[in-house]
Amino acid sequence: MTAGGSSELGDIRAWLRSFAMSGGTPPVGEAPQPTAAPHEVFVAWLRQAAGVVAEPHVGVLSTVDGDAADGRVLILRDVDARGWWFSSSALSPKGVQLSANSHAALTFYWREQARQVRVRGNVVIGDAATTSRDFIDRSPYARAVAAASPQSATLTDPADYDSAVADALKKVESEPDWVPEHWRCWCLEPDTVEFWQSGASGRHLRWQYRREGTDSWRLTTLWP
Ligand SMILES: Cc1cc2nc3c(=O)[nH]c(=O)nc-3n(C[C@H](O)[C@H](O)[C@H](O)COP(=O)(O)O)c2cc1C
Repeated sequence: MTAGGSSELGDIRAWLRSFAMSGGTPPVGEAPQPTAAPHEVFVAWLRQAAGVVAEPHVGVLSTVDGDAADGRVLILRDVDARGWWFSSSALSPKGVQLSANSHAALTFYWREQARQVRVRGNVVIGDAATTSRDFIDRSPYARAVAAASPQSATLTDPADYDSAVADALKKVESEPDWVPEHWRCWCLEPDTVEFWQSGASGRHLRWQYRREGTDSWRLTTLWP
């Protein structure tokens, strides 16, 4: 199979190469320090991204689906010394995949700063209090959708969506502390965290933290 060339869609290959990349102009920040923990560097970069990058707290969660890979965009719900937190339904494809194989990755791309952060590790389920706080923090409508949706199942009739959410909304409003059993908050506990920064003239910079012990990290610089 060969790629590229013109087709009925036009010359996509040439078109893709015509896009300007934002690399080369961003201010290069301080290099991560070996004395800092990777979650601290991440939060510092996240603060720098806030106000510059739209939705800097959105990343791609990659999971293992049998012997294939799967990925989807998610909202980051928290970051602490333990790891990177996100939430969804245990019954969703990602939830089922994580229960079969807890290895996962989270990837953040901050275009305006030409930065990327890659987090790889093992995912663990948060405790009931964390899960409950995550759910109750949401607006009633968001809670109703999360509660009612058999996420990623086929929606044969769009009216089913509205009636299921309307029913769930009644429950959410009458029981404000209710958390559906299928709701999960997960923590990606990192083994490696990589910070990537585009530099002047495409001279990219990469720093990788690799876990060496519970609270101990080795920081290395990688070839771009
Ligand atoms: C900006 C954005 C944020 C999202 N945040 C979440 C989220 O926090 N939790 C979630 O379950 N799905 C979120 N989604 C939807 C997921 O990308 C995905 O469609 C859904 O979780 C089903 O994934 P799955 O079939 O792999 O389980 C978000 C989508 C977008 C575009």
